[in-house]
This record gives sequence, C-alpha cells and structure tokens, in this order.
Amino acid sequence: MPRTVSAWFRLLLVAGAAGLACAAAPAADEPDGAKLSTKIANITFKDAAGKASPLYDLAGKKAVVIVVLNFDCPNSTGYSPTLADMAKTYGDKGVVFIGVCPEEEDAAAVAKKADEYKLGFPVYKDDKGAAVEALKAGHTPEAFVLDHNFILRYRGRIDDAYSARLKKNRTVTSHDLRNALDELLAGKAVSKPLSQAVGCPIDVARTVKKDGKVTYHRDVLPILQNNCQQCHRPGEVGPFSLLTYKQAVRWASDIKDTTKSRQMPPWKIVEGIPFHNERRLSDRDIATLAAWADGGTPEGDSKDAPKAKEFVDGWMLGKPDLVLQAKEDFVVGPGGRDIFRCFVLPTGLTEDRYVVALEVKPTNPRVVHHTLNFIDSLGRGRKLEAKAQEEEKGRKADEYDRGPGYSMAMGVGFRPDGGLSGWAPGQLAHRLPEGYGWLLPKGSDVVMQVHYHRDGRVEKDRTQIGLYFAKKSEGMKRFKGGIIAGQFPTVRLFPSFPGFPGIPAGEEHCKVSGQLSVLEDCTLHSVMPHMHLVGKEIKVTWKPKEGEAKTLLAIKEWDYNWQESYFLKEPLKLKVGDVLEVEAVYDNSGKNPNNPNDPPKTVFIGEQTTNEMCFVFLGATSDGPGRSPFGRPNLAARPQAEKK
Ligand code: HEC
Repeated sequence: MPRTVSAWFRLLLVAGAAGLACAAAPAADEPDGAKLSTKIANITFKDAAGKASPLYDLAGKKAVVIVVLNFDCPNSTGYSPTLADMAKTYGDKGVVFIGVCPEEEDAAAVAKKADEYKLGFPVYKDDKGAAVEALKAGHTPEAFVLDHNFILRYRGRIDDAYSARLKKNRTVTSHDLRNALDELLAGKAVSKPLSQAVGCPIDVARTVKKDGKVTYHRDVLPILQNNCQQCHRPGEVGPFSLLTYKQAVRWASDIKDTTKSRQMPPWKIVEGIPFHNERRLSDRDIATLAAWADGGTPEGDSKDAPKAKEFVDGWMLGKPDLVLQAKEDFVVGPGGRDIFRCFVLPTGLTEDRYVVALEVKPTNPRVVHHTLNFIDSLGRGRKLEAKAQEEEKGRKADEYDRGPGYSMAMGVGFRPDGGLSGWAPGQLAHRLPEGYGWLLPKGSDVVMQVHYHRDGRVEKDRTQIGLYFAKKSEGMKRFKGGIIAGQFPTVRLFPSFPGFPGIPAGEEHCKVSGQLSVLEDCTLHSVMPHMHLVGKEIKVTWKPKEGEAKTLLAIKEWDYNWQESYFLKEPLKLKVGDVLEVEAVYDNSGKNPNNPNDPPKTVFIGEQTTNEMCFVFLGATSDGPGRSPFGRPNLAARPQAEKK
C-alpha cells in the first residue's frame, strides 16, 4: 500500500515524541521494513547489460546513499545537479551513491537518462521492485543513507528546496542529506534521521480494474487529448507524456488531484469573460477524471477511443513572411533559479510593416515556459546585449547559461515601443482583427524575452518567432494599446526624505489600484496583466458609464511563470466615458514563497527583478486617429530605473 502523506506526518510526530533524535532508539511505530537502525537486505542491482551488483559488494565503503528516482517526476529531476555534486564531493570521502528507478521499465532507458542528467553515479531500474520493497520508499526523490554495515541511518528528503510538490522554497535552509552524511562520517549519531520526502508518490503495486462505468478509451482519452497532450507529449513542456493508457494509469491519482485543484491544465483566470485558448476543464470533465481514478482506472474497449490527435509541428498559419531567431543556441544550465533571457532579433525591414499575426516556436519546447515579445526601434536592446556579452565573455564552454542575448528577469530593461503579445505553450496562433496590425517600424528589432524552465539537465534552445505581415500597409490601422497602471503607496525609508512608490517590507496584503478612461469608442480585443514576483492577485474590471460593472478577468494566485495575452472570445465594445480598472494585491511578507528577498525588503517600482509593477496591457481597435483610444495611463509611479 502506498504510504499516505498524513501517515508520514503521524510517523514524524511519533518519531519526534519517541526521541528518535538519538539514532540508537529503534522506531517501534515505523511501518514494515526499512526501519532506522536496522540492516537493509542485500538488494541486487542489475545494469542494462544484465550484470548484477549486490549491495553487500560495497562492504568497505564508509557509507552508501541509495536515492530513489523517477525521471518523469519534476521534483526528482530537479535534484540532478545537487545529487551529481554530492556524489562527487562525498565520493572522495568514501561514500557511494546509487540511484534506483522503481517506475521505469527499461534498464537501458534508465541508464540513458542518468547519462543525460549527468548524475555521475550508477542508476538502475529497480529489478523486480526489490529496492522499494527493502527500503519501503514512498516518494521520488527519497534518499536512504546506510552506514558501513548497511544499517539505515537516515531516510527522507535531500534538502528543503521544496515545500510541496512543484513549490520551491526561496532558499534551501536545511541540508538534511548532507548533514546526515557529515555526522555519520564524523562518527556521530545522525541527529535528524527522518524527514519527509516531497515528490511524486511511488505506486508500483497499482491494481487496475478490468471494466467500469468510466473507461479510459471512451471517457478519459478525449479529455486528455483536448486538454493535456499539447504539453504532455515527448519533447514538450510537460514533464511526462499522457499519450497512452499505461501513462494515464501511472499518473491517475495525480491527474485527479491536479485537475481538481485546477493546477492543471495551467490557466490562471478564476473568474471573468470567455477567452480564446482557454485551458480550463469543465466541472464535468474533472468529475470524470476523478471517477476513473477512483474506479480502478479501467481501460475499456479501444473501439470506443477517439482518433489519435494530430499535432501540427510546423507553422500553424502556414509559412511566415519573416522568421526571426537568435544566431546561435542558448545553453540552459541544469539547476538554480529559472532564467529569463532576452534575445535581440533585428528585422532588417527597409519599410514599415504591419504584423497581423505571430507564432512562437521553440526549438526545444521542453524548457520554454513562455515568451514576451516587444518592439525596439531605438537599439536599446542591442546595447544591453553588447554589455552582457562583454561581461559573459569569460564563460567557459562547460559553463551554462551561455549564448546570445542578455539576462533580465523582469521586463526587458527598457520601455519598449510596443508589445507583440505574450505566448505560452499550447497557444494557438492568433490573427488580429481584419485591417489591423502591430506597426513594426523599419529597421526595428524584436526583443523576445524567453522564460526558460530548468529541467535538471543541460538543454539548448533557439526559439523562433514567425511574423505574418499585412499584404499592403495602405489602409491598415494600428492595433492600439492602452495601459492601466496601478498606483502604489508612497514609501519613505527616512522621514525627512521624499518617498517613492513601493510596497513596505513585510506588508502581507498591499492593495494597489488604478483606472483608465475610454476617450473614444473602441473595441477591446486583448488584456494582459503584468506583475512581478510578490504580486498575488489581480483583477480587471470594466465600468461602463451606464450599466453594471463587469469583471473581465480575475487571477487569485498570480504566477510570474504563466503569463500570456488573453484574447477575448467576443470583443467588447467600449464607449467614451467608460472606465477600466485594475485592482491588485501584493504580499511582500516572508510568507510569500516567491518573495525574492529573505528577509523581505521594501520593494520599489521598476523594471528589475527586485522591483515590482502593476500594469494591464490592452489591445483595441478604433476608428479614431490617435495611437490609443484610452487616456494616458497615470505613470506618476514611473520606474526610476527608466529615467536614465
Ligand atoms: C500548457 C501546458 C500544459 C498543459 C495544457 C497541461 N500541463 Fe500538466 N504540466 C505542465 C508543466 C510545465 C508541468 C510541470 C510543472 C510546472 O512547471 O508547473 C506539468 C505538470 C503536471 C503534473 C505533475 C505535477 C507534479 O506535482 O509533479 C501533472 C499530474 C499534470 N501536469 C497533469 C496534467 C493534466 C491531467 C492535464 C490536462 C487536464 C495537463 N497537465 C495539462 C504543462 C501543462
């Protein structure tokens, strides 16, 4: 039976109460097997060639660390650089690291993955489940430290990098595995021999029902095809595939949980009007997935299955008029904070053109989380790139985060001439309304900021952006913009000094709001809210001059990692005198795991990672002559950094 989380907590409480801190006391209430202070059975590890390596052959080593891994589990792969590093450091001190994969089926595939993730220690498929049986591992990754007599001295997490699945803590404060090894090597008792591993549950003894009311082929597959497979297929951003029955069964309980909590599919809007590309399951679909998982995941009859979904790997709108791409690959390192890289892509245009559609195509979709695309006609991106390239010159070929562009976590480092919308995986290419386009002035650059999501191994990417131009510029109108800017409170660091707009350190619920007036009748097509890391909630409301206010969109758990332009399914007619309003909430306390400052610091408004902002970018069409049908945004809170 897979151990549940609550059972683990109980176990920890019991362990604490029983004074397990002194390693000698056996844990009376621990579940079967893998008891602390007991000898682990002689597990036999078999490599891809079938060669057997019994655990006890390692007699004479100071300690053995067995890490239970799963290359489909992002928590597990996320630890690859840490584990590789530890195996090297402790290898020099007489400690051996071994990895085992209980979920993987093929020993050769396991070895290949271990190589890709550059673990530097042997990783085996768990032959006949022997390791899970002997260790009673519950999650991946989970570490087990055996002393020179193969007696279990520590089991649990590697460190506290994650507070929950996929929830990274700001900093690692407890290096549990390292501490256990250091104490053991120093001949001391391990002071914290037990901790809870955070990751994907191991469930190898899954029982599958033959048939049932809700079946995979008839009921579940259509939902996965239409809502999950665009990301969960080989090479895409999802950490594992959901293309086959077996894969669906493997992830069944997680499919149920992540859809119920609406973590999956990723769609941040919880309230509002309908948008194109909405990645949102109906309550009925969520109930179907849950019923299938709870009903023993029956396969049903393959005759009931829909046709396999075909995904377009080429350009969705046909060949673009202009494809822009950095000159070389960007090399993304395996670990650390996510990286935001801005690529400066010269268009080489000799005349102004109108962009009527664009498509973004990563060459390595696995690591591209989203892109934000901007126009720069003054060469400011080029300057930032030249500076970064100069600074990064010394980077050696084996160092990571190397290649064209410049790194800039929030924004692009200057105020662009305009936006070309934001893109997220699975988004369908979108054409602007007939007769409208984004004006791309001759000679300008497109600056594309790519959010790279690290996946535990070295990856390369050279994302392409395809532009589709209006056939003739004559008669075309600009797709017009507007910005609703939230007004921040003034924060004074010293009473006698003038203050700046910002969010005081420690403030848990800082409310910010702002309004924009409609100055000429127009049609609203797109909305894109934008905040940085301590942003928590954001809501955009339409307040017509006459009639009731209406929420256009509301996001309750803002996530900088999932940003995009939301295109309205039914464009909205706005009238002179209407008002658009933004209301946002920021959490600049230590409770916010995304807070970049530990301890929290006062955050001022600006473009840098450590700054905040509150903008909603609007896209609209109007017959008026101006560049914008909206009033000027109140940018009294303009970033200081931009005034240089
Ligand atoms: C737009 C892309 C996208 C779509 C669509 C999507 N996913 Fe995911 N999924 C991801 C990414 C990326 C991750 C890795 C976690 C992260 O980065 O947030 C993930 C992770 C997961 C996980 C692992 C969670 C964990 O804690 O390890 C599950 C389970 C999952 N997805 C199920 C689904 C299901 C079921 C659907 C469809 C109903 C779906 N996903 C649709 C991108 C997507």
